[in-house]
Amino acid sequence: MKTRMTELFGIEHPIMLSGMNWLTTPKLAAAVSNAGGLGVLAGSHYDKDGIREAIRELRELTDKPFGINLVLGVGTRELISVVIEEKVPVLNYALGRPPQIAPVIEAVHEYGGKVIGTTAFVRHALRSEQLGSDAVIITGYEAASHSGNVGALVLVPSISSAVKVPCIGAGGYTDGKGLVAALALGAEGIAMGTRLAATQEAEVADAIREVWLKATIEDTVIDPAFDGINCRVIRNKAAQDLLEKNRWPIIDAIQAGLHMKKALNLSYPEVIRTARAIKGQESGVGGGKRSWASTMRFAVGSRLFAKATTDGDPVNGILMCGQGAGHIEDIPTVAEVIQRTIAEAEDIIRAASAKLA
Ligand SMILES: Cc1cc2nc3c(=O)[nH]c(=O)nc-3n(C[C@H](O)[C@H](O)[C@H](O)COP(=O)(O)O)c2cc1C
Repeated sequence: MKTRMTELFGIEHPIMLSGMNWLTTPKLAAAVSNAGGLGVLAGSHYDKDGIREAIRELRELTDKPFGINLVLGVGTRELISVVIEEKVPVLNYALGRPPQIAPVIEAVHEYGGKVIGTTAFVRHALRSEQLGSDAVIITGYEAASHSGNVGALVLVPSISSAVKVPCIGAGGYTDGKGLVAALALGAEGIAMGTRLAATQEAEVADAIREVWLKATIEDTVIDPAFDGINCRVIRNKAAQDLLEKNRWPIIDAIQAGLHMKKALNLSYPEVIRTARAIKGQESGVGGGKRSWASTMRFAVGSRLFAKATTDGDPVNGILMCGQGAGHIEDIPTVAEVIQRTIAEAEDIIRAASAKLA
């Protein structure tokens, strides 16, 4: 299957791995690239040395194109420099403000790299294109983690007809039906998050795989309670607790701040400066800034997200998860997911074409 997405990135299939902090490891991203898709490693949770090491590990595991995903904002300047120094083939950014985004796109283009902007709003997609992005990801309401309020059926055609660059659908894509739907809506391919995380190559606890296998399409919830902006997660005990009581999680936020102070070896003034910088960030939903309550929830949520994905605790951790988890019924290899997605999509297109006669 050839589309503007496969041409742009020099890949075989119009499928990419969504960047997912903690879940996308070099091994998983390399498996996607080796299977003919675009493997993407989320890098925002690394420090400068960690991300360089991860990029080099990824290069050892694949000689195919791959990408790094960065959520632009506080503390990302050093990570961006490493991505540029290492001449990463594709940079996928999320959030960020134009004065930060524009020079990054220019620097990546200078060494011949490509840039994908992640968007959930028509105006953000137009802005990303104006700033020079080579493609945009369109994140629908079905997606794990952050999105706007509009589902793919309406959002993808709105954005794909507004911009000229290739569009990539994200959120809820788990199979060939999703790929054909995305193509029909004007996208050039899809990004898979939860589906490609539920594979043999993902380095995640069996308890988390069980959650994906058992989940129905009704088992996620989207709310700002988890990290201060609308975020879709599995409705488990930890999520229920935050939904019911923690609208102003002052004590938990102080604990999270102290944890961050220790982990990053920060002074108290540095912790306060970081909190103020996070508060000043674009919220992603409508582009407004965070409130202090939202900043506190961000501090609390960041710890609980890692508890689910890194510690493998599906009860006390918060697991970001898409509605598409309801369609996941096995834990295949990455290559199997990609091959059967393409095979199913081709069958659907052939069957649909036959109906024309
Ligand atoms: C655990 C987890 C972590 C995520 N971290 C990031 C991230 O660091 N950067 C980003 O742009 N999106 C992040 N996302 C969102 C994904 O990139 C993508 O939009 C989403 O998984 C697509 O929905 P799907 O899971 O239904 O395929 C994350 C998603 C999950 C599940």
